[in-house]
Amino acid sequence: MIHIPEFNIEKQKWVEGNVLWGKKLASEIRKKLSEDVKKLQHVPGLAVLLVGEDEGSKIYVANKEKSATEVGFKSIVKRLSADSTESEILSIVNEWNLDNSIHGILVQLPLPGHLNERKILQSIKPEKDVDGFHFENIGRLQAKVEGTIPCTPLGVMVMLQELGIKITGKNAVVLGRSNIVGKPMAQLLMDHGQATVTICHSKTQNIDNFIKDADIIVSAMGVRDIINNNVVKQGAIIIDVGMHRAVKGVCGDLDFEALKDKSLYITPVPGGVGPMTIAMLMYNTYHNALRSKNI
Ligand code: GUN
Repeated sequence: MIHIPEFNIEKQKWVEGNVLWGKKLASEIRKKLSEDVKKLQHVPGLAVLLVGEDEGSKIYVANKEKSATEVGFKSIVKRLSADSTESEILSIVNEWNLDNSIHGILVQLPLPGHLNERKILQSIKPEKDVDGFHFENIGRLQAKVEGTIPCTPLGVMVMLQELGIKITGKNAVVLGRSNIVGKPMAQLLMDHGQATVTICHSKTQNIDNFIKDADIIVSAMGVRDIINNNVVKQGAIIIDVGMHRAVKGVCGDLDFEALKDKSLYITPVPGGVGPMTIAMLMYNTYHNALRSKNI
């Protein structure tokens, strides 16, 4: 069974009108987790590896470190230069695999081009893989067996569940087919949500045909303004996973202003799904720590 954790956060703490403030929900979830962590005999540990100088990755890793410390985890961050070798990285991961005080291991992506991303991600012990990128966890999700669910799609499912909206039988369109977001998102909406799911991607012809019937749209395209706002159904739920640094500031894949009034609910960027990804990383680490003690 696929389990989506319930946090039971009051809607008035994070939903304003029809805007879903993931940032506020994430903060409430971190508060709950920090209370749960205090009750544990053992401190959960999260180890993050950052290789190279990617500016976006540096910010993400700093946020993960801050969040882990705030919820009361032991937090380790190792920063390596861009010319690090595969064997250096594999030996760090192996050291963390063997360290009983570490329950979550995350290698920040993207890795510099000379490194074999697949080999490095598969070297993480599946029970310490807090990203859900290990083949064992991908297979578990596919087979509907409990495992680790990738943080961003898990964050979206938690938002929908906390809203208390029934999505059984609804038409969901996922824009994007990445291993990190699109594919696991579609799988969760279908298997947990029991929605009818369509995945559209960069080669899909006439995306409007699919968007016009969508009750739920999750955009993880990484491309801006991909849909025709005019064809979006009145009353659709719009989740924007995109993140772009534009001249006017950070924005998502979709046009928030154009879609806000016709949507039943909509996530902003920034302040929507992004902070939920980090909150789910904290949850996955906490959950791994519980599992490691058979709690
Ligand atoms: N880079 C962008 N998103 C992610 C993520 O969810 N996990 C890891 N490891 N790297 C990322």
